[in-house]
Amino acid sequence: MTERRTVRIAMNGVTGRMGYRQHLVRSLLALREQGGLDLGDGTTLWPEPVLVGRRAHVLKAMADQHGLTEWSTDLDAVLADPGIDIYFDAQVTSAREEAIGKAITAGKHIYTEKPTATSLAGALGLARRAREAGVKHGVVQDKLFLPGLLKLKRLIDGGFFGRILSVRGEFGYWVFEGDWQPAQRPSWNYRREDGGGIVVDMFPHWEYVLHELFGRVTSVTAHTATHIPRRWDEHGEPYAATADDAAYGIFQLEGGAVAQINSSWAVRVNRDELVEFQVDGTEGSAVAGLRNCRVQHRSSTPKPVWNPDLPATVSFRAQWQEVPDNDVFDNGFKAQWELFLRHVVLDEPYRWDLLAGARGVQLAELGLRSCAEGRRLDVPEIAL
Ligand SMILES: NC(=O)c1ccc[n+]([C@@H]2O[C@H](COP(=O)([O-])OP(=O)(O)OC[C@H]3O[C@@H](n4cnc5c(N)ncnc54)[C@H](O)[C@@H]3O)[C@@H](O)[C@H]2O)c1
Repeated sequence: MTERRTVRIAMNGVTGRMGYRQHLVRSLLALREQGGLDLGDGTTLWPEPVLVGRRAHVLKAMADQHGLTEWSTDLDAVLADPGIDIYFDAQVTSAREEAIGKAITAGKHIYTEKPTATSLAGALGLARRAREAGVKHGVVQDKLFLPGLLKLKRLIDGGFFGRILSVRGEFGYWVFEGDWQPAQRPSWNYRREDGGGIVVDMFPHWEYVLHELFGRVTSVTAHTATHIPRRWDEHGEPYAATADDAAYGIFQLEGGAVAQINSSWAVRVNRDELVEFQVDGTEGSAVAGLRNCRVQHRSSTPKPVWNPDLPATVSFRAQWQEVPDNDVFDNGFKAQWELFLRHVVLDEPYRWDLLAGARGVQLAELGLRSCAEGRRLDVPEIAL
């Protein structure tokens, strides 16, 4: 028999897309379904979510549906409860900084969705305050835990690429305008005044993906666009889409590689997955998506000859080889939650913290400025 240790987690914004599906259902409830998190020392950690939000009836229904007993619309009261160990935030981005600030003051450990704040100053402020308060802190960097990117990391670690020359990322899909078919993303994502925009949403992801796999981003050149200027919201009302819905970015990386990533909510998918990264190196190339990764080694690289008079006789895609799983991959959000919980209770190392989160905010801020000023900007290294 192992001993059960309960960790109470205030989950704010748990009714949202990410809060509910990925963090509550696929992470913490999934952990409970497997009997808790086995810490390997005779203890099992049992996450006890306390649902926090603005609408009592929604929280109560959610709690009832999942056999949970604790929910509240009063964040201050929840934070005042000394029995709450961790504050988790998946609210709309614009509400995050203030709430996390309160949670730090209350002495809670912090786990949060990205972006951690709406400005670099705000993001760094949170990181500093958390450090001064001595609380543990973590920021969601889910893409690192995707099977496709884990396989890519395995290739890098195994020396498959030789010298990495370039990374080309293609992310995006068509987000419906909301008139004749409802939009599949919340309308605040398309209003700058509400914290929306694809740069603010996606550049934090690209920062940690590039940083962890290839090298720190040292400069950014970005062009953004609002391709669809009018959309329809959750109530069927038209609104002006004031935020960028596409971003075309070039990132120079420490170590010399260059990355170019297109991000768009106004593009139709002609790819195997919603995001794909092609990495070209002197010894081989790879294309990694969310789940899959295929490679072409130098030794099996064909020699195409440019001749527009002849039709293509071979399928270039067929010349790539699938990288095997060789492992069982858990949900990425859950995998990261587990590491964070171990960090909190066992003090295991954990590097995806509020400072790492601030780097993502920094890249988004500089990306927007690069576009506004029409020039490449250096990305200075930040520290606390
Ligand atoms: N890690 C990822 O891959 C990923 C993906 C999408 C979104 N996100 C992040 O997660 C956060 C939530 O995004 P989402 O897509 O789940 O959004 P959502 O609109 O579906 O959910 C937002 C949540 O915030 C709450 N909320 C609090 N104050 C609010 C206010 N003033 N107006 C509206 N809602 C308010 C809502 O009730 C809801 O629970 C964002 O910060 C976003 O950047 C991360």
